Amino acid sequence: MSYNDLSNKVAVVTGGADGIGEGIARILWGCGAQVIIADVQEEKGKALAAELGENVCFASLDVTEPDSWSNLVDELESNHGRLDTLVNNAGGGGFGNLDQLTIEEWRNIMALNMDSVFLGCKAASKLLRADGGGSIINISSTNANRAWPMFSGYCAAKAGMTMFSKCVAQHFLETNAKVRCNTVHPGPIETPNFRRLSAAEGAEQLMADWQKNNPFTEIGTVEDIGEVVAFLASDAARYVNASEFVAAGGTLL
Ligand SMILES: NC(=O)c1ccc[n+]([C@@H]2O[C@H](COP(=O)([O-])OP(=O)(O)OC[C@H]3O[C@@H](n4cnc5c(N)ncnc54)[C@H](O)[C@@H]3O)[C@@H](O)[C@H]2O)c1
Repeated sequence: MSYNDLSNKVAVVTGGADGIGEGIARILWGCGAQVIIADVQEEKGKALAAELGENVCFASLDVTEPDSWSNLVDELESNHGRLDTLVNNAGGGGFGNLDQLTIEEWRNIMALNMDSVFLGCKAASKLLRADGGGSIINISSTNANRAWPMFSGYCAAKAGMTMFSKCVAQHFLETNAKVRCNTVHPGPIETPNFRRLSAAEGAEQLMADWQKNNPFTEIGTVEDIGEVVAFLASDAARYVNASEFVAAGGTLL
């Protein structure tokens, strides 16, 4: 049993066309998994699937839409007949403290980071239970455990989806299904989203805080997160469940 042998696994990576999701898709593929890149960015997702070639395909998915998840599960059933690994990665933050955030912005943050995980776990549950079980890996953030007022909606959403993930793990245990559910909490990782946020107005303090608290570590790479996900997807992690994995080089920012 090895963490880098995923040759018998079918894996969906949401937001797999870019950023951390792309890194996860590449690592899972490198470990031998059949990977479905599920994203709203069709052109980029298809290009990545074509580059990796065999064992990778693209599926159009908006993680905030129940019907979109139903279509994906139908495709999985007819094209693969199984699902072993679901990586709920698509998500992201928006700036805004209590005074700044509008209800529309708040709802959008919740839809992208919380509805997405709820809908994904619910839609994939039947397929994951079949064929001996599977693994759900939800990409949270160090912001789930650290209050940062200028990221208040994002912090709340990531904390919520982290607790929901533990409930999902317990639910599968209570219903005798061998489906594990864990969260991965990246620190700052070099991605398009990270570049957007760090260049935004108001982010200077955030970057300064991070550097002050993390003097020995560089910004992480998408592969750093992909490696943790590969372990959790593998049978080597069969006894690892309902847990939080921080990958942040020692910082909790
Ligand atoms: N980058 C970081 O520093 C960092 C740190 C902690 C946690 N995270 C988390 O990691 C995950 C990925 O972040 P990232 O920085 O790679 O983001 P990103 O914006 O760089 O990439 C996100 C990907 O998700 C896709 N996506 C966006 N909305 C979607 C939707 N509605 N349905 C399907 N796909 C959608 C995008 O097309 C893109 O391919 C997020 O959940 C984020 O909160 C990132």
